[in-house]
Amino acid sequence: MNSNLKIQVGSLVFKNPILLASGTSGFGKEISQFYPLEILGGFVTKSITLKPKKGNPPPRIWETYCGLLNSIGLENPGLEEFIYYEMPFLEKINTNIFVSIAGESIKEYQELAKNLKNLNISGIEINLSCPNVDRGGIQFGLDPDILYELTKSIVKISQKPVWVKLSPEVGKIIPVVNLVKDAGAEAVVIFNTFLGLAIDWKERKPVFKRIFAGLSGPAIKPLVLRYIWEVYEKSSIPIIGCGGIMEFGDVMEYILAGASLVEIGTANFINPNIGKEIILELENYFKEERIEDLVGLAHKRKEVSL
Ligand SMILES: Cc1cc2nc3c(=O)[nH]c(=O)nc-3n(C[C@H](O)[C@H](O)[C@H](O)COP(=O)(O)O)c2cc1C
Repeated sequence: MNSNLKIQVGSLVFKNPILLASGTSGFGKEISQFYPLEILGGFVTKSITLKPKKGNPPPRIWETYCGLLNSIGLENPGLEEFIYYEMPFLEKINTNIFVSIAGESIKEYQELAKNLKNLNISGIEINLSCPNVDRGGIQFGLDPDILYELTKSIVKISQKPVWVKLSPEVGKIIPVVNLVKDAGAEAVVIFNTFLGLAIDWKERKPVFKRIFAGLSGPAIKPLVLRYIWEVYEKSSIPIIGCGGIMEFGDVMEYILAGASLVEIGTANFINPNIGKEIILELENYFKEERIEDLVGLAHKRKEVSL
């Protein structure tokens, strides 16, 4: 293990900055056939809800030129099955495991946090940004009062490190990340998917039953980077960057813009080995320097011309 890749975020130490993003590698079993997950800096589970959720009717996935629209609708086995069938596998992996939680009410999020409190996990990622469900999620993330109260209560109940995953729909991001920080979150995850639309022109109707769906993949990377830059410049909360990472160079861009860690999502569908490959490239690149020293470095090197 290359100790130059080690990085501390909040109260946790990560062996490298590479995590897999929620919903793009399930609960880890399938992807672990490609490489041992303990080489990762961390793993974020598919978002779980209190009760099992069937998700949205098909179609759920639609490819675009530079990305993917999805409308999965948080299909997941629910808390009980998660604890019974998925935790025994996850708790054996020697890396930081974050459980992503989602709910239709504040109470549901709190109930999930209560039940996760005694599990052998590193932390909780609150999904306040799913664009593909009717209640909860993104709506909570857009309401400053709920965002604050919900985050604060999850921090208190779970007694674990808490990250809040935001939606690009938040608009003005600085007041939002400051709220999240004041509520006790250790980091913000920027971002979940962007709301997008596809029309099946042959059928002359929207592709998705819910009309809008979540856009991910390379198309969104420059959009997300812009927010990472702004948050790094104007707030002190640690940033987990997520959106459109396809290769090593993308990770470097995120780090130089101000992200301490990154999450890889859609790229896992194209190349399930991507996490491992990027870690190998990081190990190669960081032979002398420490990754920690590069976080946000591009801010010092910007050339301002008027
Ligand atoms: C098929 C699919 C399912 C997803 N499910 C979840 C989820 O359950 N919870 C969540 O917080 N984000 C979910 N996401 C969003 C990703 O974690 C990530 O934030 C987003 O895709 C942007 O990163 P990417 O461009 O690297 O994919 C999902 C994304 C995709 C493509």
